[in-house]
Amino acid sequence: MNTCNARDQWDNDATDVFVTYGEAFVPYRQEQYKTICGLLPESHPYRVVELCCGEGKLCRVLLEGLPQATLQACDGSEVMLQKARANLAEFGNRFQADLFDVHNHNWRKFSPPVNAFVSSLALHHLTLEEKPGFYRDLYDSLAPNSMVPAGRKLQPIQPVEFIGNKSLR
Ligand SMILES: C[S@@+](CC[C@H](N)C(=O)[O-])C[C@H]1O[C@@H](n2cnc3c(N)ncnc32)[C@H](O)[C@@H]1O
Repeated sequence: MNTCNARDQWDNDATDVFVTYGEAFVPYRQEQYKTICGLLPESHPYRVVELCCGEGKLCRVLLEGLPQATLQACDGSEVMLQKARANLAEFGNRFQADLFDVHNHNWRKFSPPVNAFVSSLALHHLTLEEKPGFYRDLYDSLAPNSMVPAGRKLQPIQPVEFIGNKSLR
């Protein structure tokens, strides 16, 4: 469980470290991505938004595994976004990468509604105080029968938590 109650700062040095060493210190990284992908339907058009996408490694698994999905990926690092755009150029207009600050509220309105918000190794950047409003705002932007799966930070035993499904409410 995340007990963080203060905002941390992510800078270009953190980006460099994560891009260089992420494969070494993230356990079961591909398994986390495949588990998230496996929760989403393969067979019909689907609008996915990834929060804090980094250089686009989960994006690639989603775009390859869900051929009818389009993906809007957001991150707070221009360096990460440039890498994601370069890494995923082959997917053309199925992929879009935008700058955002996960702490802000201004990006949390989506039209048309989103079918799935996904994230991996990133939502620990939100404080405990921020999380209820954050999940409420995501919920309000979801289409019916939609979901919010997210991979947790360094949790190899239970790598993916299924945060919510609008159809259950
Ligand atoms: C540990 S990396 C995970 C990246 C990616 N999700 C992955 O699985 O490889 C954390 C990501 O969160 C982004 N990030 C950190 N603080 C942020 C903020 N306030 N707003 C948006 N993105 C932020 C970083 O730029 C970085 O890409």
